[in-house]
Order: sequence, then C-alpha cells, then structure tokens
Amino acid sequence: MSKSLFRRKSLSTILKDAKEGLTEAHGSGLQLHRVLKVKDLTAMGIAAVIGAGIFSTIGEASFHGGPGVSVLFVITAITCGFSALCYAEFASRVPVSGSAYTYSYVTFGELAAWVIGWSLILEYAIGNIAVAISWSGYFNNLLSGVGLELPGWLISNYDNASPETLAAAPHIAGLPIVLNLPAFLVVVFITWLAYVGIQESKRSANAMVAFKILIIVFVIILGAFYVNTDNWHPFMPNGFSGVLKGVSAVFFAYIGFDAVSTTAEECTNPQRDLPKGMFYSLIICTILYVLISLVLTGMVPFTQLKVADPLAFVFDAVNLKWISYIISISAVIATTSVLLVFQIGQPRIWMSMSRDGLLPKPFSKIHPRFKTPSFATIITGILVGVPALFLNLTIVTDLTSIGTLFAFILVCGGVLLLPKDDSNTQRFRLPYINGQWIVPALLLLFAVLFRGALAEKYSFAQGWDVWKHNIPFFLFTIVAILLSIFSFTRKLSLIPVLGLLSCFYLMTEMGIKNWIVFTIWLLTGLLIYFTYSYRNSKLNTATAVS
Ligand code: ALA
Repeated sequence: MSKSLFRRKSLSTILKDAKEGLTEAHGSGLQLHRVLKVKDLTAMGIAAVIGAGIFSTIGEASFHGGPGVSVLFVITAITCGFSALCYAEFASRVPVSGSAYTYSYVTFGELAAWVIGWSLILEYAIGNIAVAISWSGYFNNLLSGVGLELPGWLISNYDNASPETLAAAPHIAGLPIVLNLPAFLVVVFITWLAYVGIQESKRSANAMVAFKILIIVFVIILGAFYVNTDNWHPFMPNGFSGVLKGVSAVFFAYIGFDAVSTTAEECTNPQRDLPKGMFYSLIICTILYVLISLVLTGMVPFTQLKVADPLAFVFDAVNLKWISYIISISAVIATTSVLLVFQIGQPRIWMSMSRDGLLPKPFSKIHPRFKTPSFATIITGILVGVPALFLNLTIVTDLTSIGTLFAFILVCGGVLLLPKDDSNTQRFRLPYINGQWIVPALLLLFAVLFRGALAEKYSFAQGWDVWKHNIPFFLFTIVAILLSIFSFTRKLSLIPVLGLLSCFYLMTEMGIKNWIVFTIWLLTGLLIYFTYSYRNSKLNTATAVS
C-alpha cells in the first residue's frame, strides 16, 4: 500500500484525459469553452484578489502594524511572486484545470495530491464564506445609507449578535434564530452565475474589475490630499513584530491570483497566457495595496483603525461621508467579483479530482448546455452559503490563509521535483538560478541578523504556555536547514526554494491555534481519502502509471 500512496499520474496521461474530455467519467465527451485571453485572466486575477482583504481585514492589520503594514504588503507580494512563478511553471507544463491539485499529482503522487485538493477547499470554499460575510457587512451599510434597516437577527451571527438582537430574534424551542441572510443570498446568486456559464461570468468579472480599480485609484488620489505625514511617524510603532501580526489579514488580501490557474482548460493559449495573467494581476494589486495602506495610515492615527470598514471609516473621519458611501458600493462590487472567481474555481478542482476517481463521478459532470461542472457548482454553493449564514469572519479568514500557504508550499516543493524539460516547446520557463551557495548563505545571514529574536524563540524561560507557540517556528528551522543542505548537494533551483521557505515562514506567524485547527482539517481529509478515494482512484486500474 505504501507504494500506491505515491502513485503518480504522468504528464501525458493528464493531458490526454483533459483532451478527451470526460468521456470516461460520464460518457458525454463534453469539453469546456476555450474563451479566456490574457486580458480576461488578468481581470480574473484582480477580480479574485481585491476584495474583503483590502476593504475589511487591513483595518486590524494597520492597527497592530501602523504604516509599516505597507512593508508587509511588499514582503507578502514577493512571497506570492515566488509562488506565482512556480504556479506559472506548472500551469505551462500541465495546462489543465485543477491547479495545485493536478500539479502535485504529477510530482508528489496521489496522497499529496489529495491533501492539496483538500487544502484548496480552505482557500476557495472556506475563503468565500469569509468574503460573503464581508460582502454582507458592506451591503448592510449601503442599505442603512438609503434608510433601509434589516432586522438585526437577519444580518448577524451568534458570535456577534448583541443581547438586544438576541432578545428581539424569533425563537424556536427557546433558541433565538440569528442568521446572516444577505451573505447566504449573495452566494445563491453567484452560484447561479457560475452555473450558467463562463462566458457570462467572464463578462461580469471584467465589468466589476474595471469599476473597483477605478474607485480604488480615486480613493488613493483623493486620500493623498488628506494625508498628514505626522501619522507616518513612527513608521512601525509596535516594531516589526507588530507588523507581523497582520500576516494572516495581508496574505488573505493576496489570495486569488492562483485561482487563474484553475481555468487552464478555458484559455485559448494557457501556456503563454496563464503566467502573464497571474503576474499582471499580482503586480497591479501590490501597487494598489501599498498605496492604499499608506493613504489609510496617513489619514488617521493607526490606533483608530481597528474597524471592519477601514476605508469607509477614514473618509468619514475627514468629514467626507459621501465618499464613504461610494466606498461601500465598490466594496460590495469588489467582494462580489471575488466570490465569483472562487465559486468558479472550486468546482473545477473537484472536477479534476472526480476525473481521477478521488471524488464521486457526479463532481465531473458537465452541463450539456452551459458547459460548466454543474453538480460541483451546486455543491460549492451549498458548502459556502450555509456556513455563511452562521459563522463569523475571523475564524474563516485565518483558516483560509493557513490552508492557502500550505498549498503554495506544496506547489513550490513540487516544482523542485519536476523532471527536467529539455523539449523545445514554446512555453513559460521558470528561470533557473543555482541555489547551491545562495540558500545556505542567506540562511546564515538571517541567523546572524536575527540572532536576538532567535535566541528568544528558543528560550524556555517563559514556560510551556509561551514556548508551545514557537513549535511552528521550530519546524520551519528544521525545513530551512534541510533545504540548505539539499540546495548545496543537489544545486536546487533558487526561486522555488525561496518560495517554499517564505510561505512556510508566514505560516509560522499564524499562531498555534490555527495550526491545530488546520491539522484537524487535514486529518479529516485523510480519513475520507483512506475510506473512499484510495479505493476508487483511477490509478487502481491497469492503466496506472507510477
Ligand atoms: N483576496 C481575496 C479578498 O481579499 C480573497 O477578498
């Protein structure tokens, strides 16, 4: 059995499966529409990236980090850039739907592929729960602006509801009923859009992206006139550790550029266009994020930014209420487009997993008229919509960030394991920089530069309660040392190594509680794998390639 856990699909099998459509899965032989070009892919990337992060979670990050949070945006962008390069290498070698899941099936084998597919649910479906909740918050702001107030029990959840809301709510069997109805309804609407087809979704995404970029640029320019540079001093009021408290929120703001790679089978030229789409969207978003964070922390003292709607708040603070109203409109639109991209991405990953037999067949069923994975789209709608009725924002944001970082780590690691490609095919190629000396030298440099912080991390002086939070960092240290050794002995490619290490490092900043929840999530996934997927895998048949 241990050997079959690492059974791999060969690149040629994957490409052949995708080309033949889904004949084996359900006898229809239908393929997805090939309509997406660089412009659409860039728009799709931006559509997925700019959303709840910049409109909501950046508030708390700025509260802890002050203006220095703009540096965190740059660091995170570089980390994402390394991962994007690795995604691009994979996307141009394995141009089929399924994203990181498919990539790891080729390199690490089936078990790891399952683990990745399972983690991507955190990024796409669980991430979308967070976005739907944030959407609902801004939507309710808008409704209040025009004098429409929904009852509190219809726009809240048990964690956030005030005692008055709980008292006013209808009761069933003595229990108050508290729901976030708008969050649920928007998911129903988006699921319908994703169901009826990529053409329609593409048009909606492009229009929404144009609008949100316009508003954000307008906010940056107008906000710049209200910046008081005194607010930028000190730049890191709580030191670098304060800045690092925002890792989960800031990383969440970048999640999405990789979703572009799930549409490989709907691109006219995936090998050329997917990498470009990812990069353009990442670069545009980074510029906007850095500027927004500087404007935000320049307009009011950072201590005031612990709010759920920071962009609207700062304009309120300078007596421009009408601007904050426009911001609420654009936040609603921005988060709608994020919802759309993820709601399109999740079913396509399941479709790939189902083609491989790891999920039941209906997940790869394609709608005869709309040419979309219909069953998987509906299940995604239910999985996102129902929890959005009840959950609160922070729980889901943290879980999404840690799961996505883990997926990025496996993608970077996967690139290191890819066989050499000596063909002359015209495609994107990850630049090879020999990491033999650079990786160990960098490790040494960091160890010397941060020796004080390291000594503190390794000290047991404050007892187990403090020490246990450093466990993720110890794991990171072990991986960093091992990778330095392998870089030296095997001349590993520098970019994937840096990608892997930087993502791992960001994961260590997420707190032990999130690591525990994430571990439970992974164990649940493994249970499903061993009880269903292992036996039903297509690689269990005679066509297996190991
Ligand atoms: N990056 C996406 C957002 O901020 C998930 O909404």
